[in-house]
Amino acid sequence: RGPERVTIVEVGPRDGLQNEATPIATATKLELIARLRAAGLPVIEATAFVSPKWVPQMADHAELLATLMRDADAAAPRYPVLVPNLKGLDAALAAGAREIAVFTAASESFCRKNINCSIQESLERFAPVIERARAAGVAVRGYVSCVVGCPYEGAIAPQAVARVAKALWELGCREISLGDTIGVGTPDTIERMLAAVAAEVPMDRLAGHFHDTYGMAVANVVAAWQMGVATFDASVGGLGGCPYAPGAAGNVATEALVYLFERMGVATGVALEPLVDTAWWISAQLGRTPNSRVALALARK
Ligand code: HMG
Ligand code: MG
Repeated sequence: RGPERVTIVEVGPRDGLQNEATPIATATKLELIARLRAAGLPVIEATAFVSPKWVPQMADHAELLATLMRDADAAAPRYPVLVPNLKGLDAALAAGAREIAVFTAASESFCRKNINCSIQESLERFAPVIERARAAGVAVRGYVSCVVGCPYEGAIAPQAVARVAKALWELGCREISLGDTIGVGTPDTIERMLAAVAAEVPMDRLAGHFHDTYGMAVANVVAAWQMGVATFDASVGGLGGCPYAPGAAGNVATEALVYLFERMGVATGVALEPLVDTAWWISAQLGRTPNSRVALALARK
């Protein structure tokens, strides 16, 4: 059995929406975040301070975060944001960010497509970002993408993931999120990857970030939890996909993880009913039904 309490990091407003082709109003994103907050999500990744030429959907990052931080009281969730470089850090800090996440990959080809540099260059780029963020009292998470497979290179060796995770850890990231970007992991490959990474970074500082392309994400979450991982990223309604990972589906649905853990007696602090309502609400905004069995099963008749 794994940890008795887990932290769910809601990434719907960022990972979930970044790939949507039609513009989504900032007010809709803010309402989504307010609903997620009301459901009890303790951490909500709000947006990405990336280039609007690369990801147009996140172009309203400054306005969105500034509004959120203005209304953030003591009971507010944490609102981390993605930051790829110093330009992004400056803009995030100006908007009031208290937490950021840098992101690279275990695959050279994906790294190049996603952030236009090599893995080594990304680490060199992050060093001053992390240093300045920490000097400002801002917590830093590090993402590693393609921890099992890459859309361009195929299978990725666990040691390659461990190397990048270790480098981010040594640069000062205090949590490392392991992204199965294209959802090709199965419990055995996730376990081998985690064993390699946990030799470099403490297990309780790791997070699982599993996309659900093949419907394996819940199984992978259970496998990682049994090994001691206590933080999982998820997206309400199973929204999402990465613009630089063609064919990849959304993250594991938040309501699936809340259902899973609460039924197993593992505390999440998140209320399922308002979460399912939110999955239906945001899916309706996007003109579809939620991409999750739990949301379908618990739909209000
Ligand atoms: P580049 O073109 O190499 O950078 O992009 P550049 O420094 O040459 O700048 C190009 C232009 O972008 C310039 O504007 C810059 O000012 C501007 P111009 O002079 O042409 O008008 N620019 C920026 N604007 C706003 N904010 C910034 C910024 N930086 C430069 N921070 C760059 C390099 C990293 C910027 C670009 O590749 C980029 O933004 N990539 C982001 C890609 C992205 O967001 N991907 C999705 C998130 S990652 C993900 O989904 C995976 C994850 O979920 C985990 C998993 O599932 O595996 C986290
Ligand atoms: Mg992702």
